[in-house]
Amino acid sequence: MNLQEFRKYAHRFADWMADYYEKIEKYPVKSQVKPGEILSHLPDAPPQKGESTDQIFKDFNSLILPGMTHWQSPNYFAYFTANTSYPSVLAEMLTAAIAAQCMIWETSPAAAELEEKVMNWLKKMIGLPDCFEGVIQDTASTAFLVSLLTAREKYTGYSVNENGYSGNEKLRVYCSAETHSSIEKGVKIAGLGKNNIVKVEMDPALAIIPSRLREAIEKDLQNGLKPFCVVATLGTTGTLAIDPLHKIAVICDEYKLWLHVDAAFAGTALVLPENRWMTIGIDHVDSFVFNPHKWMFTNFDCSAYFVRDKEALIRTFEILPEYLKTKTRGEVNDYRDWGIQLGRRFRALKLWFVIRDYGVEGIAGKVDEHIELAKELAEKIKNTDGFVLFEPQHFNVICFRYQPDNTHSNEEINDLNQKLLQRLNESGKIYLTHTRINGLITLRMVIAQTYVEKRHVNKAWELIKEMADSLRI
Ligand SMILES: Cc1ncc(COP(=O)(O)O)c(C=O)c1O
Repeated sequence: MNLQEFRKYAHRFADWMADYYEKIEKYPVKSQVKPGEILSHLPDAPPQKGESTDQIFKDFNSLILPGMTHWQSPNYFAYFTANTSYPSVLAEMLTAAIAAQCMIWETSPAAAELEEKVMNWLKKMIGLPDCFEGVIQDTASTAFLVSLLTAREKYTGYSVNENGYSGNEKLRVYCSAETHSSIEKGVKIAGLGKNNIVKVEMDPALAIIPSRLREAIEKDLQNGLKPFCVVATLGTTGTLAIDPLHKIAVICDEYKLWLHVDAAFAGTALVLPENRWMTIGIDHVDSFVFNPHKWMFTNFDCSAYFVRDKEALIRTFEILPEYLKTKTRGEVNDYRDWGIQLGRRFRALKLWFVIRDYGVEGIAGKVDEHIELAKELAEKIKNTDGFVLFEPQHFNVICFRYQPDNTHSNEEINDLNQKLLQRLNESGKIYLTHTRINGLITLRMVIAQTYVEKRHVNKAWELIKEMADSLRI
């Protein structure tokens, strides 16, 4: 491809993108292909000779697109959203074109300084105290691993980094059974051993019971184990349960434990000051993560990680081979020392575009709209015979179960809900997922797609009722 062709196709692809968003509702939300179907249409050997962009683009439309699930469809209500927005997509185009590798300040000063600035903006936007410093990580999973490794080093006097494990650490991590699986993964990778995760008992709202946390810590101390880290979740993956941070923070303070807050999805709700009851106690938190790539209109990947002790973070991850020594070291932020990988994408640009395009008020307005849409639907579900709403219902996640009568066993009702979910998703009209609450299969709807409107939510609810009605046990 020469430059002239590049220009031609860039224009054509930009048109394709606008057309795609215009007609996105015409695609089945969840891809309807069967396992192996795409694979069977792709040649086993790579082409020996270059092919035309026309041909590649044609195959993209006919072979690849049917195998895509349309996460940006306003009829997408599954998992947590990975939403984006027009300004974010445009910024990513520029990032892809410049294709800078932003590992240190010198390899692109604007990337480092813009990251510093937008992280400070985000901090203000969600009401975090000034003592935190932010850095963009790829995902909340990585952010937790970074947090845990920092905690491990700080707690062991930076000895594991130097000498490896002595075998006597027995470091204990506390969270609830509803905590995201990335916590277990992080503990495994950090070499702590997943048997050192203590799942603290939860209340009926599926939030950690602080007194049970204290008991678990005391028990471990009596047994010669070393409590060192607690993970509080603001918005669990299953039901968006919110752990009582203010009470957990007091306990962490008392026992001198590292406190990580996982607000991967619900952190965006903090742009509305009325939701900051969730972060009372934040002054005692060591690290905090939320994903603008989930609900803040910034496309994947973009995870905002904030840490109180920046020096401990850098001391944990710092490396200094000869070729990375620069004159500006110490004067500027070299983000390669703020996380795991050396090479870094220029992720701050899309955040900058999004925040400037919407403005803080625009972002808050949209978030509020999503929460209101969810509250309205939750109310309808609650008042509809045959449906049971899980409460407390937080923000824009709704968990509910179809239970036409009380004459059937839990297993039968579980099967019925699974069947309903499958039919809804196979219809291609909407896409939602499920969770399991106390053993019961529960449908779960997340209203966070950037361009979702009331009409989409209403239509989804009508479809759910209609399909539920047509099912028989
Ligand atoms: C509460 C919570 N924490 C962490 C994660 C992991 O997010 P990521 O995909 O950014 O690693 C998720 C993913 O959905 C989540 O729901």
